Amino acid sequence: MNRNILGKSYDEWVLECPIIRDITELNPVLWLNPGKASCEEVLPGLPYSIKDIEEAEARWNRFAPLLERLFPETAESRGIIESNMMSIPNTKAMMEQRYGVPIKGKLFLKCDNYLPVAGSIKARGGIYEVLKHAEELVLKSGMLGLEDNYAVLAEERFREFFSRHHLAVGSTGNLGMSIGIMGSALGFRVTVHMSSDAKEWKKGLLRSRGVEVIEYATDYSKAVEEGRKQSLQNPMSYFIDDENSIDLFMGYSAAAFRLKGQLEAAGVAVDRQNPLYVYLPCGVGGAPGGICFGLKNVFGDSVRCFFVEPTHSPCMLLGMVTGLHEGVSVGDFGIDNVTEADGLAVGRPSGLVGRLLGKLIDGIYTIDDNELYRLLVMVKDGEDVKVEPSAAAGLPGPFRVSDKIPDSCRSNVTHLAWATGGLFVPGDMYESFYEKGKKLLNL
Ligand SMILES: Cc1ncc(COP(=O)(O)O)c(C=O)c1O
Repeated sequence: MNRNILGKSYDEWVLECPIIRDITELNPVLWLNPGKASCEEVLPGLPYSIKDIEEAEARWNRFAPLLERLFPETAESRGIIESNMMSIPNTKAMMEQRYGVPIKGKLFLKCDNYLPVAGSIKARGGIYEVLKHAEELVLKSGMLGLEDNYAVLAEERFREFFSRHHLAVGSTGNLGMSIGIMGSALGFRVTVHMSSDAKEWKKGLLRSRGVEVIEYATDYSKAVEEGRKQSLQNPMSYFIDDENSIDLFMGYSAAAFRLKGQLEAAGVAVDRQNPLYVYLPCGVGGAPGGICFGLKNVFGDSVRCFFVEPTHSPCMLLGMVTGLHEGVSVGDFGIDNVTEADGLAVGRPSGLVGRLLGKLIDGIYTIDDNELYRLLVMVKDGEDVKVEPSAAAGLPGPFRVSDKIPDSCRSNVTHLAWATGGLFVPGDMYESFYEKGKKLLNL
């Protein structure tokens, strides 16, 4: 394997970054970011700040009356799309037994697997960007003012207006679902370019809502590239760019304010002596990146953010380790990007996220597909929570980083695994995931 990889031989890469050997051998690894610096040093130098997150939160609030009207499932939260945070002591006990390590401190699950409307973490960014674009269009047209009640956007005259506009997106599945569901609810014409990993049921659900789904035999990066190219040819089309969109990023980031409120309500302190460790499944990097950015702005260095990738799709990890970001794909290192964690099946990371967060991410760990199924069973048996395989990746975070936590605060740590999708997985498919996990656990 001593061929030339982006200007160096494999051996040279390994000499420079020894972890690359384990990554290419598909062994689960934990990488701690050697370039990490304090929030005080990093945040003031970034082109975005807490003001941008506040702006995103204000936009979500402006749209709440509309969301409540369009999606009755958000009535209880008055149109705010948010998930619960729950303690998972039984799952924790099962994992302690499996990994043979007791975890001091609390373990919570952030249940984006049940996020209303689109059923995954991608709803935070995807729905937000559709709303932002819709807002820009109607404000420009003069049909709506900033102070108006946005619930009127559900009226036929607005649907007719939006139907003259087109949205396009490339997706492994869940982003496409959020754009398709939100876009079609407003009346937009929507095209979703789906990678080969996208599950049939996601395509079916979108088609049932009048969304055009174009399938590719290739991977996610190709679907994004094609979507971008086709959208550019149509002046009425707006492309939602999973690899480069700062709007998606800000949509995700607003989760930090919500989480702060939930932690306070649960009586959980987050400060230097009581750090919060967060584990976020990562595909192209937008969702975990936006949330990490939000959390670092809200909690500063008291929060530690770890991304999680499948051993077969460690794109953000390779981007960070090599420093090449979107200049490297897992295929360059002979890794196949084939994983059951369809939401995380991304071969080339977002350069935007890699660069913005290069000094803020605390680390990345990789996980084997089979372990995802075992964890899916543990959280179902433990707390009766249903997740899709991608969404289970954050659960073992406390065990993966446990010996890196300073003794001084080990007992005071709050761990939070971000469960990222699952609500709409068809029952029979979920059953097959569960059965597979049971077999793997020899149960
Ligand atoms: C269930 C699930 N979790 C996590 C992610 C990761 O998000 P991102 O690709 O923005 O890193 C995705 C992406 O589609 C997903 O579907």
